[in-house]
Amino acid sequence: MALAAARARALRALSPPHPLGQVLVAARRRCSEAGAPGALPPGGYRAWQEQAARDPAGFWADLARGWLRWDSPFHTACQPGRPAGTARWFLGGRLNVSVNCLDQHVEKSPNRVALIWERDEPGTAVHVTYRELLDLTCRLANTLKKYGIQKGDKVAIYMPVSPLSVASMLACARIGAVHSVVFAGFSAESLAGRIVDSGCKAVITYNQGVRGGRIIELKRTVDEAVKNCPSIKHVFVAQRTDNKVQMGDCDIPLEEEMTKAASVCTPESMDSEDMLFMLYTSGSTGKPKGIVHTQAGYLLYAALTHKYVFDYQQGDVFGCVADIGWITGHSYVVYGPLCNGATSVLFESTPLYPDPGRYWEVVQRLKINQFYAAPTAIRLLLNYGEEWVKKYDRSSLKTLGSVGEPINKEAWQWFYQVVGEGRCTLVDTWWQTETGGICIAPRPSEEKAEIVPAMAMRPFFGIVPVLMDENGKVIEGNDVSGALCIAQPWPGMARTIYGDHQRFVDVYFRAYPGYYFTGDGAYRTKQGYYQITGRTDDVINISGHRLGTAEIEDAMADHPEVPETAVIGYPHKIKGEGAFAFVVLKEQVAHVDRVKEELKTIVASKIAKYAVPDHILVVKRLPKTRSGKIMRRLLRKVVTEQSNNMGDVTTLDDPSVVKEILDAYQKYKEKSSS
Ligand code: WTA
Repeated sequence: MALAAARARALRALSPPHPLGQVLVAARRRCSEAGAPGALPPGGYRAWQEQAARDPAGFWADLARGWLRWDSPFHTACQPGRPAGTARWFLGGRLNVSVNCLDQHVEKSPNRVALIWERDEPGTAVHVTYRELLDLTCRLANTLKKYGIQKGDKVAIYMPVSPLSVASMLACARIGAVHSVVFAGFSAESLAGRIVDSGCKAVITYNQGVRGGRIIELKRTVDEAVKNCPSIKHVFVAQRTDNKVQMGDCDIPLEEEMTKAASVCTPESMDSEDMLFMLYTSGSTGKPKGIVHTQAGYLLYAALTHKYVFDYQQGDVFGCVADIGWITGHSYVVYGPLCNGATSVLFESTPLYPDPGRYWEVVQRLKINQFYAAPTAIRLLLNYGEEWVKKYDRSSLKTLGSVGEPINKEAWQWFYQVVGEGRCTLVDTWWQTETGGICIAPRPSEEKAEIVPAMAMRPFFGIVPVLMDENGKVIEGNDVSGALCIAQPWPGMARTIYGDHQRFVDVYFRAYPGYYFTGDGAYRTKQGYYQITGRTDDVINISGHRLGTAEIEDAMADHPEVPETAVIGYPHKIKGEGAFAFVVLKEQVAHVDRVKEELKTIVASKIAKYAVPDHILVVKRLPKTRSGKIMRRLLRKVVTEQSNNMGDVTTLDDPSVVKEILDAYQKYKEKSSS
């Protein structure tokens, strides 16, 4: 009943109906180009949405046949799993993801540019064709094989974006190994934790990284990490700079080996449901979880959303400035664009290097057609004024995209009016590491005038959002808010948490049985559009980077003089959210400032620099309920200065703690502003 209503609502959100358009024609052309059948229903988006709601398995089966190149066809499109809400896709089918991303394009247009590596140093972009990327990938795959990496083995990739990083991911896919890309800003301890959890056999890294004119000692971090990782047999080291780094017994110079390796590597034929990669992300408990994505369903979903959310047309230059260390980099720098034969930009630098005009200079020079970035960068740049944007020609731009965190109206308007000159479609895209690809976003080829600022708006085909109330009941009607769930499985969804399937079930499918629970809240407008209101758990989002407050607390707990901490997110003008830490010190700690500095160092070295709290406030005790639970809600009220509206505090063990903390906060504020 609830599902039927949700489907009906998903259809209504599509109004007004859209004529059979360019899109469908392009899709058909795309399918026939790939040499696959793939009959798609007539009637444009609306028809697709209708079919997806009526017959999800048939809908996805048609698309999968048309969009992907298979070694052998699947016999079952969708097999519902247990618990309800999970599913496995395209069973019996076999394919290789690297063949879909490379070989099929090399056959037709070997000299088409696959990657443009916009290196940190402005004006030194490197173009890599599909033929060259296939060559790199095969050599790298053969090198991995030579050193004993086989199908099913796990390989950590600790590299910023570059053609070799992309080739590393695709080389794993080619031989059936599973990659685990770790954001190259994570500390040695974070890297080690991820390697140990997944049992990686090898790491691929660079000697050094270069970002914003600064050198990053990647190999040194890897050395420190692998000391505690007995599963690692080899470290492959590529050269990003000319500087020499110390090479140990298990270190292998990557390019040297690749030159010796054969440039042809037979792709491994993989089952649709074999693991393609895992990517660690934060949840509300301390330990990051290895989200697992599989081959066919993930690739199909990444490719389709890349095509339709951004209105990508063949020949376009697609500029997603995310790092491959995050899901956005996986789906919209690597897999989606390459599966569609696009030219994908790899942006190595920062929005401010060498000056705040960098993005727009790159747009002009590379003639970027779709530009996809995080709101945090937009908020940062708008402070520098319009001149930096207007200096450069942005007439190539067609679609702008925003991802990773809520975009505020001011940033949306600036992106739309100043960057896009009110001419480009701006899509606010909501999704998660777990969803594999974009789930809620406006679609550019639908009427532009309809797009509501700062709103993700509409579900993608086959995505059925529902809102739940506190009692786990589906909320019907419009102009309502609730916990955002998805009622029907889709091919791109994560399959498990590596090594802990029970946790997967508990986190995503237990709160609302039969539904995938996103952890976000949403508001459904009067028109039936969706607006994401933010996390409902203890996950915060710092500059678009997802982080559990418990991770920061766990890190700080290592300090011998700090018995208790509570970390909350607070609104930050540029970063979206920042971390605010309340800490209790042991009695008689004399050097409070020293302890605070030590806490910051601990967080940077145990997690990453971006996780370091902006504020650390020492309090005598934390607000706790009689059963000993910290009431973070109260701390949030203090920091957001809503102390006149503390809500129900009767369950507090000792209500006088509220005044105590308020006083401490007030003093802290006065001190920081003086
Ligand atoms: C948040 C990033 C508002 C959300 C792709 C989600 C957003 C988490 C948006 C996932 C958006 C992502 N508007 N919030 N357009 N996009 N989020 O796994 O809280 O790094 O649950 O994936 O980011 O972060 P993740």
